[in-house]
Amino acid sequence: MDNIKTMRDSTFGFSRVPDEKILEYANNCGANHYGRLDLVVRKSEGVWLTNIQGGKYLDCLAAYSAANQGHHHPRIVQAVVNALQGNYGSVISNIVYSDAAGLFLRKLANMIPQLGPRFGNNGNKVLPKNGGVESVETSLKFARYYGFKAKGIPDGMQEIIVFDNNFHGRMITTISFSTTEKYKKGFGPLTPGFKSVAYGNLDAVQKALTKNTCGILVEPMQGEGGMYQPPDGFLRGLREIADKNDLMLIFDEIQVGLGRTGKMLCFEHENVIPDGIILGKALSGGLLPLSAFVTNTKLMDLVFQPGSDGSTFGGYPLACVAGIAALDVIVDEALPARSAEMGRILRNKIVDIAGRSSHVKEVRGRGLFIGIEVKDGNAMDYCRKLLELGVLANDSHGHTIRISPPLIINENEIDYLIEKLEKVLVN
Ligand SMILES: Cc1ncc(COP(=O)(O)O)c(C=O)c1O
Repeated sequence: MDNIKTMRDSTFGFSRVPDEKILEYANNCGANHYGRLDLVVRKSEGVWLTNIQGGKYLDCLAAYSAANQGHHHPRIVQAVVNALQGNYGSVISNIVYSDAAGLFLRKLANMIPQLGPRFGNNGNKVLPKNGGVESVETSLKFARYYGFKAKGIPDGMQEIIVFDNNFHGRMITTISFSTTEKYKKGFGPLTPGFKSVAYGNLDAVQKALTKNTCGILVEPMQGEGGMYQPPDGFLRGLREIADKNDLMLIFDEIQVGLGRTGKMLCFEHENVIPDGIILGKALSGGLLPLSAFVTNTKLMDLVFQPGSDGSTFGGYPLACVAGIAALDVIVDEALPARSAEMGRILRNKIVDIAGRSSHVKEVRGRGLFIGIEVKDGNAMDYCRKLLELGVLANDSHGHTIRISPPLIINENEIDYLIEKLEKVLVN
């Protein structure tokens, strides 16, 4: 009864309670699966987060690239509000069509260069899901089925090459081929069929090939693994190996795609076209879960037929409405170019700080995807200090501070961030 009364009293559909209560509720009633920072966010707008006391925090995490367009981008919000107010948004079923899904699928398929070009200029097709890891799983099914159907690998014997330090999500299969022990220890039995080799090492890929290899899954730049850019020519080398051995080359662009590294898609830096790509996060502008696996029409039709895949919410109208607006914002506001330009300015200033800091080991990154590796290996300590100064950032793989703000950040906001980084890193 109490709960019902509180909800009726509240403007937002739930009660406003002090921060310490929220921490207590979440810690007592929620799983402890994130090492959280003590910040309760009441509002997010553009590049800023606000707590209940009105304290402002520059968001330099952007929900791991989900908020590339900035929080609550008015165009995306308006599209979603219109849909809801028009009684258009709730999940129906994928056995019928919706105009939002049709428009979204077409926009995304056409926006991406022809994938798997060696299979012909057939256009791309999109298979939509919700969280990113679901689309990673779709891509693994895709590569395995291609191996079985097109290459004649006995079913159950297919192998996929992945890379040390990879991060592709948290479900059983994706943790099975993680090389980070804490992600998988105790969660066995693990899914077989993967070989992990050193990121950036083409010889190691060559050596890992067997007659049962059907695909290669790679992040064009590693985010969670420590913000690493592969050596020049690595993606091109993978393309050559894949072509020579008839393998599906799949790029996971969930974190580094959609403008983050200064290009619409990270693989454009090397101009290497994969057979399939995986997108998520900013695909819906950070408002709803939406992810997708995209490939050449011929390949998609070879692998997926009625009954071989599905998802209740995957591609439901509200997510697609957000997706259409989110893609429009990236294109109309030229966010990839903005990321390249602001990233250049920010990186130069960070490099300048690094030159005067006794704490920084290395600065890495592209566009607005910048990693600052610290010598003592404990990036989270620096992130806690940054939070006290009004900046939200977190670590990547323990040793690196990840700086990945919404792509709409401006020069004044960059100066705000630089002032705080200076305080934390130079002393
Ligand atoms: C490269 C990459 N792949 C997959 C995922 C998993 O996405 P999600 O958390 O939406 O399942 C992530 C999440 O950070 C990621 O960075």
